[in-house]
Amino acid sequence: MSDDAAYGIDTQIVRAGRRREWTGGVVNPPVWRASTILYDDVADLRRNGHGDTHHRLYYGRRGTPTQWSLADALTSLEPGAEGTFLYPSGVAAIAAALLAVLSPGDELLLVDSAYEPTRALANGMLKRFGITTRLYDPLVGAGIVELIGPATRAIFMESPGSLTFEVQDVPAIGAVAMERGLVTLLDNTWATSLLFPAIARGVDYSILACTKYVVGHSDVMLGSVTAGWKRFAPLRDASFQLGQVAAPDDCWLGSRGLRTMAVRLRRHEESALAVARWLADRPEVATVLHPALPSCPGHDIFSRDFAGSSGLFSFALAGGGEAARAALIDALDLFGIGFSWGGYESLAIPADPGRGRAVDAGGPLVRLQIGLEDAADLIADLDRGLAAWRAAAA
Ligand SMILES: Cc1ncc(COP(=O)(O)O)c(C=O)c1O
Repeated sequence: MSDDAAYGIDTQIVRAGRRREWTGGVVNPPVWRASTILYDDVADLRRNGHGDTHHRLYYGRRGTPTQWSLADALTSLEPGAEGTFLYPSGVAAIAAALLAVLSPGDELLLVDSAYEPTRALANGMLKRFGITTRLYDPLVGAGIVELIGPATRAIFMESPGSLTFEVQDVPAIGAVAMERGLVTLLDNTWATSLLFPAIARGVDYSILACTKYVVGHSDVMLGSVTAGWKRFAPLRDASFQLGQVAAPDDCWLGSRGLRTMAVRLRRHEESALAVARWLADRPEVATVLHPALPSCPGHDIFSRDFAGSSGLFSFALAGGGEAARAALIDALDLFGIGFSWGGYESLAIPADPGRGRAVDAGGPLVRLQIGLEDAADLIADLDRGLAAWRAAAA
């Protein structure tokens, strides 16, 4: 399968991870559920019944062809990657990657626009284990060098940032990190390796909440960490020690979702851009935080580094307060109100970056996940929502 890198991405995504020894000849890798693996005799157990496994059945916690197939597919879609480990959620993936890298006494540089549970992990368990965290401005770029101290060990990026969508200069930060011997991690859930090949851009660990675009149907929790060259062993060791395993049924659904991810992402992109541009022209809207629009902080870096955009962005209302924002969201018919994103259906939530975040969006924020519905229907729905906002804000 190594020659697949020469194919276009749509071809690669159809073929990735489907080794014949794992599929047995059927198209989709089947679900192998296991705890116990049976050995032929005691000699076989002595020979193969030890934990030093690689794509060899040993014990259910070390995976079966169902998990190996999805992990292998994600590795092959990330140029420069050595291997991928799967987790029962995106947050579990973030936690395992950070625990693989950090030790007591270390300092972590964490982007200020990181997903809230990533900050909670840094301020909670990592702090308890003697690891300090320093937040940095998402637009810092190569200026991150000023923040590096003797204890700094790793830089955790998320680009674009959660809720406020600032795009980071990942290559500049990666270059500084390499020069200073630091490890870099990126929450790459928004773009995936298809729109932002993180390891090729200088990242050591590329993290996905597969719950979003890989699964694509809002019905499975799943996470992954893809490691750059010579970075996989510490990740695998930490994940084994933590007892992490993603369920085979969930990985099977992840593999199934992955096959259509490139097609879905293009549709998410097209519709989200149509909605974002329409919102940008509305007097009720103060600003649109979509990385592909010049109004988004870091837009020039987005244009330089990304192969496209996905379906999640925010917009800030021109005032109105909490009740008017709620009136807008409650008036929407086609947008569900709920957390997560990356599924086929549209969602809207009030977004509150929270105290402590340096970013000020300039008005109450609404975050939209644009699904696979007709963009014209979504725009008409938002038009109704903005009318409700006007009535409530008056
Ligand atoms: C940017 C980002 N990273 C990570 C996660 C966590 O993923 P999960 O919900 O699978 O734990 C989320 C979930 O919303 C997210 O938005």
